[in-house]
Amino acid sequence: TLTQIDFKVADLALAESGRHQIRLAEAEMPGLMALREEFGPRQPLKGARIAGSLHMTVQTAVLIETLRALGASVRWASCNIYSTQDEAAAAVVVGSGTAENPQGTPVFAWKGETLEEYWWCTEKIFDFSSEGFDGPNLILDDGGDATMLVHKGVEFEAAGSVPPAGADDSEEYRIVLETLRESLKRDSSYFTRVAPEIKGVSEETTTGVHRLYDFAKTGKLLFPAINVNDAVTKSKFDNKYGIRHSLPDGLNRATDVLMGGKVCFVAGYGDVGKGCAEALRGQGARVIVSEIDPICALQAAMDGFQVTTLESVISEIDIFVTSTGNENIIRPEHVLQMKNLAILANVGHFDNEIDMAGIARIEGIEKIEIKPQVHEWRLPNGRAVLILSEGRLMNLGNATGHPSFVMSTSFSNQVLAQIELFTNVEHYPLGVHIMPKELDEKVALLHLDALGVKLTKLSERQARYIGVQVEGPYKVDHYRY
Ligand code: NAI
Repeated sequence: TLTQIDFKVADLALAESGRHQIRLAEAEMPGLMALREEFGPRQPLKGARIAGSLHMTVQTAVLIETLRALGASVRWASCNIYSTQDEAAAAVVVGSGTAENPQGTPVFAWKGETLEEYWWCTEKIFDFSSEGFDGPNLILDDGGDATMLVHKGVEFEAAGSVPPAGADDSEEYRIVLETLRESLKRDSSYFTRVAPEIKGVSEETTTGVHRLYDFAKTGKLLFPAINVNDAVTKSKFDNKYGIRHSLPDGLNRATDVLMGGKVCFVAGYGDVGKGCAEALRGQGARVIVSEIDPICALQAAMDGFQVTTLESVISEIDIFVTSTGNENIIRPEHVLQMKNLAILANVGHFDNEIDMAGIARIEGIEKIEIKPQVHEWRLPNGRAVLILSEGRLMNLGNATGHPSFVMSTSFSNQVLAQIELFTNVEHYPLGVHIMPKELDEKVALLHLDALGVKLTKLSERQARYIGVQVEGPYKVDHYRY
């Protein structure tokens, strides 16, 4: 007999609507569906216990159910307090059961979590006790919070205590410390037992990948990692074409402001910034870019964008977008120089690109909620600015994130990475690895038919001439696309 699964979501009554949306998404996610067909019968993830921390959207629901279809047992949380689509979370929990008797996958996520709730949810994905295990044997991460929790947990357990928060530590980090202090009290060797069981982590985004390389560099990395972000079929697609869709979507749903004719500022011209700038230009906005990297600055210039510093144009800008993965891009002194009702939108992973804590400390500032995730901050100078999603990822907070088709490319990489980490262990010693190019090309291939793309086939002779195999890989590893 089936026992009821544990979970915490907003409302299971939303499951039917979620299931319809998941069904439509499946039709737009040919990569994931092809992987179900190819690997389903072999069950390569049988015995895998995956702790997943990634925006709990409709697209992620298709990912979760693909991992399940390949044999894995899965527990899930969102990697952002605003990004959950409650109907998707409900549908994943209900699975083939009913709202009264859910039989799907344990999900711990709802739109609008507090930070305390967020870290409670993140801890919950590690709890495989109902299956007779201390923890997971794989992590699927986005931004690295789940990975960080294990690493910090092991560090503090070794030290025998959790240090007090430092004066510079953020409110969120204090909550992480408190979460781990409680964990240590309950079980002083929990993460120490769990970490060696973990065969690896596959990391979704640029910011999480930075954290992994930091762990590796300082000798702290506890298990092998696959950097999914730097698969070509991830960062050159999701980061760029995904945001090209979901940035304007978020701006529209949040404010419905006309972008045409406006002056927009995009901080950072990496993969995400390129998609942002293109989207805004596509709407008829005049786009100004800032960069610290001369190569990206030159790219932006040759793509036809003005490239300059924030300070030199600040009072002309109608819409600010941050996409740097860096901190303190927009600071309180900037906000005080902005036009009345300028819009501030962050699409970088964490909420420190716009210095929200600093802005909240401006003397005499007043915050008015226009609607959830849209706030007017009235300034002492008589002007006001609109900040979306409290400075967190607004394409997920104010809209529904990237669309299914592009997430199918990202998530196909995730599924293949999980299979690699679980079944091809010798290939992935401790360290951070990139997806093998054969798999990267395979992910692209799985998405061609749906778009009616007809690929040209190399002849044997042509293949010899350019020094590749007829079946690929077609490029050297350092090729940049
Ligand atoms: P990237 O490394 O390709 O681009 C970031 C760019 O910002 C770099 O070119 C860098 O030189 C520039 N930069 C850094 N500091 C700067 C500063 N002070 N001023 C101006 N430019 C600066 O990274 P990518 O892939 O574009 O990702 C950016 C962020 O977006 C990351 O936090 C990533 O995790 C996140 N992301 C968000 C997504 C979303 O759905 N909103 C999707 C994918 C990634």
